Formats: sequence, structure tokens, C-alpha cells
Amino acid sequence: MGPGLFISFEGIDGSGKSTQARMLAERLRQQHRDVVLTREPGGSPGAEEIRALVLTGEPGRWSAETEILLFTAARRDHLEKTIEPALARGAIVISDRFADSTRIYQGATRGDLRSIVDRLHKMVIGREPDLTFVIDMDPAAALARGLARKSGEDRFEEFGLGFQETLRHGFLALAREHADRCLLIDGQREPEAVAAEVAALALERIGDLA
Ligand code: ADP
Ligand code: TYD
Repeated sequence: MGPGLFISFEGIDGSGKSTQARMLAERLRQQHRDVVLTREPGGSPGAEEIRALVLTGEPGRWSAETEILLFTAARRDHLEKTIEPALARGAIVISDRFADSTRIYQGATRGDLRSIVDRLHKMVIGREPDLTFVIDMDPAAALARGLARKSGEDRFEEFGLGFQETLRHGFLALAREHADRCLLIDGQREPEAVAAEVAALALERIGDLA
């Protein structure tokens, strides 16, 4: 058993991360690979409880500082209970969001809190994905897709279009900053076209590791 491979999907709300994470998982399972498809906030029973706290209610319910603590607590549980055991047995873990979301949503939208995010990450998480797909697209189009779903977990989408534009620029800068692991993907295409590019890049990376 190898050390596994940890893949994350990042991007603004409605950019197609969940769709693409699912399509990649299906593609790799068809090849009989051991795949764990998971998500943040959530991915373990404890972290799913925290998810309900952070994603429902009034947009102003939590300050950005409190959110950093809640999302990081959820991530620690997700890492301990789901991600690390899967990687240890050699699985491919595909997570719909990970720490980059905290860097951008909490670290770069309501004041510059990035150093708090980074210090806390170093102290209690200390791990990055091997590969991160940053799905990029126009926030107005993504917001229209996202709100059409009305999931009841729309607290961040309710911050509005300006917020999503700030997020997009944050993710683009992050992809440049972490060019070693981040691959920028144009999300404004048919789902199958995006999935084909994502699968080719993931298989290339899996091949490099084999
Ligand atoms: P995210 O996880 O980034 O919020 P989703 O994968 O949940 O995004 O997609 C948001 C909505 O847009 C869903 O209703 C989904 O079916 C739709 N969708 C996803 N990818 C595409 C695409 N490439 N083109 C058009 N609609 C899409
Ligand atoms: P998600 O379910 O991926 O929402 P969407 O499908 O709309 O992209 O994530 C829920 C929300 O949580 C999303 O608006 C981003 C936010 N979030 C943070 O603010 N910080 C974090 O660390 C994470 C993981 C998510």
C-alpha cells in the first residue's frame, strides 16, 4: 500500500466543484481504484455537526475570526477520522474544498486575517493536498447556478456578488502562489468537457506517483 493521494477541489460557490469531484471519483472507481469522496465543511460525523452551525442562519451570525476556529475544528476532525485513515491505506481522497477555502473565505474577504488562518493551520492541520483543482468562472453565472439550488445552506452565497468577485480574485492569486500543487481549470464549459480535462490531469499525477 502506498501513501495514497490527496486531491482537493476549490473555487467560488456554484463553480461546479461538487459535480467535478463526483465525476472524477466515478472515473477513478471505474478503474477499480480505492476512492474516498468527501467534503468540507464536513466529511466526518463531528465535522458535519459543525457544518450545520456555520452554513445556516443569518450572514452576520459569526465573525470571520469565529468562523476560522469553527472551520478549522471541523477540518481537524475530518483529517483525523476520514482523510488520514484513507490515505494510510493507500486510497485516493477527493475532497470538495479544504484549507484553501478558509484562506480565501475567512482570510481575505473581511479584513486581512490570512496570518491567523496560516498560523492556526500550521499548528493543528499541517497538511496540504497533493493536487488542487481551482475551478474558475464568472461569479454572476456561478451565483445564478448556486442560488437556483436553494439548499438552505446559502449563508455565504447571501453575502452577494461583490463577495464572490473578491473570492474569485483570492482563488486566482492562491493558484499562482501555490503553483506547485494548484491547477487552474476553466469551469464555464459543459460538465463533461471540464471533467475530461480534470481526469487527464489527475491521471497524469497518479502516473507520476506510480
Ligand atoms: P459547487 O460545488 O462549486 O457549488 P455544483 O457542482 O454543486 O457547484 O454546481 C452548482 C450547480 O450548477 C448545480 O445545479 C450543477 O448541476 C450545475 N453545474 C455544475 N457544473 C456545471 C456546468 N459545467 N455547466 C452548467 N451547470 C453546471
Ligand atoms: P459548499 O458546500 O462547498 O458550498 P458551495 O457548493 O456553494 O460551493 O461549502 C459551503 C460554504 O462554506 C461555501 O460557501 C464556502 C464556505 N466555506 C468557508 O467559508 N470556509 C471554509 O473553510 C470552507 C471549507 C467552506
